[in-house]
Amino acid sequence: MKSPNSNAQTQYPFNSISKLFNLQQHLLHSLTYFLLLGCGVTLGIIISFNLKDYTFSLHFTQFSLSAGHRLPAPPLLQLNETTQASNKSHIHIGLKEYLKPPPVMHDMDDEELLWRASMAPRIQDYPFERVPKVAFLFLTRGPVLMAPLWEKFFKGHEGYYSIYVHSNPSYNGTLNGTDPETSVFQGRRIPSKEVEWGKVNMIEAERRLLANALLDLSNQRFVLLSETCIPLFNFSTIYSYLMNSTQNYVMAYDDPSPVGRGRYSHHMSPEISIQQWRKGSQWFEMNRELALEVVSDRKYFPLFQKYCKHSCYADEHYLPTFVSLKFWEGNSNRSLTWVDWSKGGPHPAKFLWNEVTVEFLESMRSKQCKYNGGNSTNACFLFARKFLPSALTRLLRLAPKVMQF
Ligand SMILES: *[C@@H]1O[C@H](CO)[C@@H](O)[C@H](O)[C@H]1NC(C)=O
Ligand SMILES: *[C@@H]1O[C@H](CO)[C@@H](O)[C@H](O)[C@H]1NC(C)=O
Ligand SMILES: *[C@@H]1O[C@H](CO)[C@@H](O)[C@H](O)[C@H]1NC(C)=O
Ligand SMILES: *[C@@H]1O[C@H](CO)[C@@H](O)[C@H](O)[C@H]1NC(C)=O
Ligand SMILES: *[C@@H]1O[C@H](CO)[C@@H](O)[C@H](O)[C@H]1NC(C)=O
Ligand SMILES: *[C@@H]1O[C@H](CO)[C@@H](O)[C@H](O)[C@H]1NC(C)=O
Ligand SMILES: *[C@@H]1O[C@H](CO)[C@@H](O)[C@H](O)[C@H]1NC(C)=O
Ligand SMILES: *[C@@H]1O[C@H](CO)[C@@H](O)[C@H](O)[C@H]1NC(C)=O
Repeated sequence: MKSPNSNAQTQYPFNSISKLFNLQQHLLHSLTYFLLLGCGVTLGIIISFNLKDYTFSLHFTQFSLSAGHRLPAPPLLQLNETTQASNKSHIHIGLKEYLKPPPVMHDMDDEELLWRASMAPRIQDYPFERVPKVAFLFLTRGPVLMAPLWEKFFKGHEGYYSIYVHSNPSYNGTLNGTDPETSVFQGRRIPSKEVEWGKVNMIEAERRLLANALLDLSNQRFVLLSETCIPLFNFSTIYSYLMNSTQNYVMAYDDPSPVGRGRYSHHMSPEISIQQWRKGSQWFEMNRELALEVVSDRKYFPLFQKYCKHSCYADEHYLPTFVSLKFWEGNSNRSLTWVDWSKGGPHPAKFLWNEVTVEFLESMRSKQCKYNGGNSTNACFLFARKFLPSALTRLLRLAPKVMQF
């Protein structure tokens, strides 16, 4: 059994100065005080600590001695001790405070964000009542096109999900057909960067979404969706499917053809061999443990950043390869998101209003797959793509009858 978060980041994305310095100071303080008292020095002594630049000095009324125990001033993460001290009576940092989901907007850069998100508790049992949530990660160009359908899907299940939207920074519009005041997507956009189809910055965006969602300690399952994705079942069905699952859903297979192994670069050796190279859909679903590993990966991802360029399509190879290399045991090797590749070409089929029928939706819902490894089966797909805005009206009409929401 691998220890959770075995490749967690150990480097700091900021200048870190060990707090041991403080301890040394305190020891020095006590020791000096003790020695001075012990020697019966009863002169008026002021021992002062300048916490700002960590100068340690002793001032005697009759003579002055500056011990000059000068430590380098920490350039970052410097607390304003005055402010802290003056407000001590109001400060109450307990578990509740710690468990509060942080605001979706923040000013961390990617390096800082990934580091912050890579933290994991070592004690597996929770000393409090915990409602695990599903994090829905929307990777979009502009608006979530199927937003009205998702609004209906989420209605009444507050507290069991969280939503994160990563959209192109140039997109400044709002959502179509949703009331910005009450929309579940309101205020859920994370600090985002440019994403180009098939480029490695797509994975950077996926890791950014995962990292933001990891900051909320209640998020237990993480699903990646696009603006054209729809849910195939109601919330309670999807929630129990995911929460009861013992597996991750990262599609991975070995494709010996030019569009599989043909995209491997020998520069990735010896860390990744051609036999270990995998392909699969980018639309994943994973648990918290795997999400932590993905944001903490500093070994394989840089190889993709460097060597998976042009016609390599990192989004089809990074997660399948990374997960198959190190975490294949918990992986089902299949995606929960239905997609139609039967029409050929580099993009899957898109569905317009006339193709949305009860039979079509039922056909996607009724496919059966192995669930949790053993003999039990369950639905193969919980989500489907790609649906165009013109399909929305029909989907909204059929949702109560077919999907039961
Ligand atoms: C600390 O806070 C006090 C009160 O808010 C302020 O006057 C002082 O300038 C701050 N010092 C530093 C180093 O930021
Ligand atoms: C102390 O805390 C209160 C509220 O908790 C805040 O309004 C006030 O500005 C704080 N004072 C300082 C000096 O930071
Ligand atoms: C959105 O961007 C367009 C063009 O970049 C600009 O003309 C428009 O004013 C922006 N709208 C808002 C609400 O910021
Ligand atoms: C909103 O809907 C209208 C009409 O359906 C469409 O023309 C427009 O492009 C949509 N805007 C966005 C931001 O999706
Ligand atoms: C959700 O769908 C399932 C069938 O998939 C159904 O048994 C259940 O009653 C539905 N839940 C709600 C709240 O409608
Ligand atoms: C998931 O587990 C819960 C509690 O263990 C149970 O009530 C529920 O029926 C299960 N759902 C599925 C889909 O197996
Ligand atoms: C997933 O694929 C790996 C090889 O990459 C294999 O070892 C593993 O048994 C597969 N898991 C399932 C559930 O098929
Ligand atoms: C799965 O089914 C096979 C054949 O029906 C049976 O031999 C096996 O014990 C079952 N495994 C489990 C884990 O139930």
